[in-house]
Amino acid sequence: MSHNRIHLCLAHMSGTEQKYINDAFDTNWVAPLGPNVNDFETELEIFLNNDKKVVALTSGTAAIHLALVSCGVKSGDEVITQSFTFCASANPITYLGARPIFVDSELETWNMDPVLLEEAIKDRIEKNGKKPKAIITVSIYGMPYKIEEIAEIAGRYDIPIIEDAADAFGSKYKGKMLGTFGKYGILSFNGNKMITTSGGGALVCENEEVKREIMFYATQARENYPYYQHEKIGYNYRMSNICAGIGRGQMTIAEEHIAHHRRLCALYKELFKNIEGIRLQENPGPDYDSNYWLNTITIEPWVNIKGDDNVYGLSHTDCQPNDNVEAMRIALDKAGIEVRPLWKPMHKQPVYRDCPAYVNGVSESLFKTGLCLPSGPCVTDDDVKYIVKCIVDCMNK
Ligand SMILES: Cc1ncc(COP(=O)(O)O)c(C=O)c1O
Repeated sequence: MSHNRIHLCLAHMSGTEQKYINDAFDTNWVAPLGPNVNDFETELEIFLNNDKKVVALTSGTAAIHLALVSCGVKSGDEVITQSFTFCASANPITYLGARPIFVDSELETWNMDPVLLEEAIKDRIEKNGKKPKAIITVSIYGMPYKIEEIAEIAGRYDIPIIEDAADAFGSKYKGKMLGTFGKYGILSFNGNKMITTSGGGALVCENEEVKREIMFYATQARENYPYYQHEKIGYNYRMSNICAGIGRGQMTIAEEHIAHHRRLCALYKELFKNIEGIRLQENPGPDYDSNYWLNTITIEPWVNIKGDDNVYGLSHTDCQPNDNVEAMRIALDKAGIEVRPLWKPMHKQPVYRDCPAYVNGVSESLFKTGLCLPSGPCVTDDDVKYIVKCIVDCMNK
C-alpha cells in the first residue's frame, strides 16, 4: 500500500492566520512590535490562566538567553540544566560565558532527577565556594518534571528556576500550566511545536516590572532618551508583528491541537497494550497531564529487529542508538514514517565534553532505546494504526 509520508509534528494552520497577517500589512505594522504582538501576549497570558506576564520573542532559545541575563548570569558562573534535552536548554548558558552543569533524569518523567540535582548543588558549592546561578528545568516531550521536589530543593538553596516549557505548551501539573511554576518560563513556537509562529518563543515572567526589563534587553537595551543611548548590552529578540499574527491564528486552535496529541497518545496506548518489548511513555500519576507533544517509546534491547542494511555499520561514537532501534527507524522510514531517536544527552555531546555532569545512566539508556513517534495535528487515527502495524511487522520479520 502506498502511503503519504507521515511526519512527527507538522505545522497546521487554523485558516485565520492570514487575516491577522493581512491586518499587519494593511496597517503597515511590519515590524518587531505592533497590535498582533500585544494581543498575542495577552492571549498567552489568558491561556496560562495565571497572573504571570508574557513577552513574545524570536525563539525559545532567545527566551532562555534573556531569562539567564535577567538572573544576572555572567562569565565564570555555573548554571544547572537537564542533560536529556535539546541543545537549546544549554547553549544560551555558554552565550554568556557561563558553564552548563548537567543533571541526569529519573525514570518516571524522564526529566531532572531531584536526588542528583541536590548532589550537584552541594558538590558545586563545595568545589567553587558559590552556588549555581540558576536551574533550567525541562518538561521533555511535554511531560511535566518533578515540580514539587525540584522547587523544594531550589527554594532551600535559594536558586531561581527557569522552566524550559518549550515542549510543554498546555501541559499541566495539578491543574496548573507548565511555564508558570518557575521564576521564568520559556515557550517555543517553532514550526514543529504545539502551536507555531513559524519561528518564535516567549518568556513568561512574574510581573510588569520584570516584563519591562525583558523587553528592554530584547530591544537592544535602548535607554529612554530621544536619541539612541545604550548603557548595557542588549539583543534584537522581539517577535515580529507578522509572526505574532500567525500566533494569534494558532491560538484559536491551540486547545484542539493539545486534545489531538492527547487522543493520539490514548490510541497508541490501546494499540501497544499487548506488544511485548515496547513501552509507551505516559503520565506517571494523576497529578501529571502531559500534552504529549511527541509520543515516545522505548524498545527493549532483546527485541530482535532485522534491518536490511544494518544500521550505521560503524561505531562513530561511544554513544548511539541500539542496533534494533536504528533498524526500526530505517524500516519505518522506508514505510513512509518519520521517527526520531530520543535526545542524545548533553553530557554525551562532544561540544559539552568538558562540562561537569551528575549522571545515573538514565538519559543514556533512553537515548539508546527510544524513538519519537508521529504525534502532530496532521497525524490521523488511521496513520497511528498504520504506524503500529509497521512497528509490529518489523518486530516479527
Ligand atoms: C526542550 C527545548 N528547549 C528549547 C527549545 C528551543 O526553542 P526554539 O526552537 O524556539 O529556539 C526547544 C525546541 O526547539 C526544545 O525542544
